[in-house]
Amino acid sequence: MHPCGGINALIFPIKMNRDIIVGVIGSGAMGAGIAQVAAVAGHQVVLYDTNAAALEKAKTSLSATLQKLQEKGKLESAEEVLARFTFAGELSAFTHCGLIIEAIVEKLEIKKSVFAEVEKIVGPGCVLASNTSSLSITSIAAACGKASRVLGLHFFNPAPVMALVEVIPAVQTDEALVGAAVDLMRAWGKVPVVAKDTPGFIVNRVARPFYSEAIRIYEEGVADMATIDWAMTELGGFRMGPFTLMDYIGHDVNYVVTETVFTSFFFDPRYKPSFSQKRLLEAGWLGRKTGRGFYNYAEGAVQPEPNRDVALGNEIKERILAMLINEAVDALHLNIASAKDLDLAMTKGVNYPKGLLQWCDDWGADKCLARLDSLYNDYHEDRYRASILLRKKVDGGEKFS
Ligand SMILES: NC(=O)c1ccc[n+]([C@@H]2O[C@H](COP(=O)([O-])OP(=O)(O)OC[C@H]3O[C@@H](n4cnc5c(N)ncnc54)[C@H](O)[C@@H]3O)[C@@H](O)[C@H]2O)c1
Repeated sequence: MHPCGGINALIFPIKMNRDIIVGVIGSGAMGAGIAQVAAVAGHQVVLYDTNAAALEKAKTSLSATLQKLQEKGKLESAEEVLARFTFAGELSAFTHCGLIIEAIVEKLEIKKSVFAEVEKIVGPGCVLASNTSSLSITSIAAACGKASRVLGLHFFNPAPVMALVEVIPAVQTDEALVGAAVDLMRAWGKVPVVAKDTPGFIVNRVARPFYSEAIRIYEEGVADMATIDWAMTELGGFRMGPFTLMDYIGHDVNYVVTETVFTSFFFDPRYKPSFSQKRLLEAGWLGRKTGRGFYNYAEGAVQPEPNRDVALGNEIKERILAMLINEAVDALHLNIASAKDLDLAMTKGVNYPKGLLQWCDDWGADKCLARLDSLYNDYHEDRYRASILLRKKVDGGEKFS
């Protein structure tokens, strides 16, 4: 056996915090952001990309970002942090890394082959993580000889700003590695939550009704987009309404996540994508970045005014909120994460004004259940089925917190 082999060797370096060299694969939006977080936390960082232009771009923008942070007094020395970086075009630069985080294109076969290649280069104690948003960590780990060293570390965009990191053990992951990864993320100033390796993990699963129920309400003609956005921001306290947010994220990303979650859940109708959004994608109306999405962002375009009818607004808000709460409750029921982590994920990952389980307690589980049951009775669609856990809480008069 290799002198560094065995479980302890796997855990030891990650606990050493600043002493391990962190490798990042892919220097795009996420990879560059994650590399910045690790370097600011004190690690030597190797940032690798097959595309030399992407690597050069990351180098320039990292330098400018760190400089700005220094000017704002948020960083002592940009130069010192920059000096911790190695920009590499060869995988061999990862030889001495203790942790590698992959943030390349979202394609399973490509990720698997990169993990298999990386494993040939690194030592046996090196932990391998993927930042995938939607792929199975278990499938990625299966490409490795030592699958117990693989886990998901899902950062949110922009990684240096968003506090949440979902820590996702694969079926094969060494259990002790999860705690070590949580500790490391805390040392990086992040808020880690642990999620089961299921489609969408926590945030991308639980948040689906924010988009899909809003679109459904719009498609049925209950209200227009501006009114739904107004209801969710003004009455619901969300920072952005669903249509504004989908346009901001981009339909190429948001629609694809919905479709991936839907197919990965064996076509559960609760996650069904919409034709309205699919057509936008087909038209190339991707949102803000193309100047047109649900809204028109062309200069001089007149934005629609909401109908500020509070009764209608509350009806919209409660319908979407009931669907969101139901999703969070069902995730708890299925042990996707703890109640605490489920609430942390939504407040720290997507800036919800309140954790959904807390919101259920504050609103009243009975009211939430009544809303869902009324939708179910009206539509006779499985989409509106209430989680058994919500029903049990109401029957037992219990709260989530
Ligand atoms: N963008 C987001 O909001 C977001 C949020 C969380 C997670 N993610 C996930 O992070 C990953 C990266 O997303 P992104 O938005 O940073 O993508 P991106 O397109 O901005 O960057 C990907 C980078 O990876 C490089 N790359 C591609 N194949 C490679 C390979 N085989 N070896 C080395 N480098 C390679 C590309 O040159 C590019 O620079 C994806 O898995 C995505 O699902 C994205």
